[in-house]
Amino acid sequence: MSETVLLVGGGGREHAIARAVAPDCDLYACASNRNPGIADLATETRSIDETDADAIVDFATDVDATLAVIGPESALAAGVADALDSAGVYAFGPGAEAARIETDKAYQRRFMRDNGVPGCPDFETFEDMEAAGEYIDDYDGDLAVKPAGLTGGKGVRVTGDQVTKAEAKAYLRDADYDRVVLEERLVGEEFTVQGFVANGDLRVTPAVQDHKRAYEGDEGPNTGGMGSYSDSSPTLPFMDADDYEAAVDVLRATVDALPDYKGVLYGQFMLTADGVRVVEFNARFGDPEAMNTLPVMETPFLDVLVAAREGNPLPDLEFSSRATVCKYAVPAGYPADPEAGARITVDEESAASAAAEHGTDAGEALLFYASVDAQADGLYTTTSRAFAVVGVDGTITDAETIADAALSGGDGLRVREDIGKPSLVQRRIDHVERLRE
Ligand code: AMP
Ligand code: GLY
Repeated sequence: MSETVLLVGGGGREHAIARAVAPDCDLYACASNRNPGIADLATETRSIDETDADAIVDFATDVDATLAVIGPESALAAGVADALDSAGVYAFGPGAEAARIETDKAYQRRFMRDNGVPGCPDFETFEDMEAAGEYIDDYDGDLAVKPAGLTGGKGVRVTGDQVTKAEAKAYLRDADYDRVVLEERLVGEEFTVQGFVANGDLRVTPAVQDHKRAYEGDEGPNTGGMGSYSDSSPTLPFMDADDYEAAVDVLRATVDALPDYKGVLYGQFMLTADGVRVVEFNARFGDPEAMNTLPVMETPFLDVLVAAREGNPLPDLEFSSRATVCKYAVPAGYPADPEAGARITVDEESAASAAAEHGTDAGEALLFYASVDAQADGLYTTTSRAFAVVGVDGTITDAETIADAALSGGDGLRVREDIGKPSLVQRRIDHVERLRE
């Protein structure tokens, strides 16, 4: 094996990346936590904070890494890709400046406006929270209130949905952010399209729908993402091929305006009555979305990485025509008041037998670890998302049945049962039909 890959990050997303590259390379990994799934796949793992660029470069140099893949946005914002590139290790991930497309929401919206990237909502940015409050009062309609910096997906408040305008103003007063973006509230169905980018090339992957709200029926606070699904085609049941193409056009326009960008470009879109609009960009794979996308990608991820580093055209991507449903198991009380210490009872074997029993011949169940605590007698939950199960099969319904069967049992853990179930998918379809009337 000629490539040595260093993976930065230790969540479910990085476990999915590890599983995608490990068969084709010598894999090393570092993160602040110890992910047992990644540890099983890697030659060596080290405990290094994802933002500690110097220590990551030392590790890469020690093991003669020829490539690096960066999972989390915290590492991108800390300049880990810049540091690796300077040390001669090609990092698949943007430098801190290019990562501002994710890490600075005010920059992101100005970038879209200045470069004519389609799908940008009406917005204003503020440093003065008094002035922001007045804008909320005067604005004719609902708004999304977004801190400009990183908040782990938990900082946005949408008026008319989660909060009243008075609550949004109180939130701004109490939270004391330096800068906020106030933008038109987009109403519709959200979906994600992720693309691989390097040397001006873009290769897109199938659409995924994440579920950010903590509880069934999209109730409760926003989380990092409770689970997600993708279909056997690039689109989702509530959208058509034109909607997917509109999202790809946005990514294309973004890459054209950022010719040196490298890594994953993640578009979060809202399918509205007026077409596809942009909720945000991320400069990395989504978590959970990476767990939907990479297991059905038939083109080796390593081929993408090598082509990117060599300055060659990125390979055309092949995907198996299968649907996926990913469900995270989180500690009881997550995200407000999570209780750590629940014993995890799912393992690879029990997941595989659930797939064999409940799926078709094309069915599979994959287990991805995120934040777990390894004790002598087994794995326990921490206060973050613990692990995810991904069902893969010919249809969303069959994939969901597998994920559900693989997850059954387990005290002290909570799962959003409704993700990928026919009734929730139908609600999405009905919602878009109503919007389009
Ligand atoms: P973000 O932190 O930008 O990912 O936003 C978190 C969530 O807030 C998104 O997934 C949306 O559900 C919601 N959101 C963000 N911007 C808007 C918007 N302009 N209109 C409606 N909802 C939004
Ligand atoms: N799934 C949302 C994110 O990764 O930001």
